[in-house]
Amino acid sequence: METQQLFFINIGRTNMKKAVYPGSFDPITNGHLDIIERASKLFDELTVAVLVNPDKKGMFDIDERVDLIKKVTKQYDNVSVVSFNGLLIDFMNKNGIDVIVKGLRAVSDFEYELQMALMNNKLDATKETVFMMTSAKYSFLSSSAVKQVAKFGGCIKELVPDELVELISKKVK
Ligand code: PNS
Repeated sequence: METQQLFFINIGRTNMKKAVYPGSFDPITNGHLDIIERASKLFDELTVAVLVNPDKKGMFDIDERVDLIKKVTKQYDNVSVVSFNGLLIDFMNKNGIDVIVKGLRAVSDFEYELQMALMNNKLDATKETVFMMTSAKYSFLSSSAVKQVAKFGGCIKELVPDELVELISKKVK
């Protein structure tokens, strides 16, 4: 019985499907969170990878973004959150990840996302991009729209996780 159990544990490990959900997440929205929740059910491990972009100053710095995403995803046992710089493909190879998860909101996202997926596949043909359709209720949502609404005093409740509402409002003041 013990040997049998060990055998299955080993098989499970070698067949683990690991995916990465990369992005800027400045800040994470309920649309991102929805993709994280759904993708965490499809893969054994999901890594949320926050891009360090030295050319772009965000509302939240990288450590803040990582901490916030960790906070709002703590209920998902197979989700981890890290930052990365450089090529996504290099990050994936270092971490044994073969699948990229991206959310698609509308046709307008498609062109940019297709270009990135094809470029990543050209850089490393063993990597696949899996597109998940954003839930209809979040199809209008983006980090930049949230920042703009907050900046002009609009209500961002229900657009971002509750924990972030106050923090974002403070940032824009
Ligand atoms: O949330 P965003 O800003 O649309 O995310 C873009 C991201 C981070 C997924 C993309 O810019 C990226 O993967 N950057 C890393 C650099 C890279 O690998 N580029 C090659 C693909 S074009």
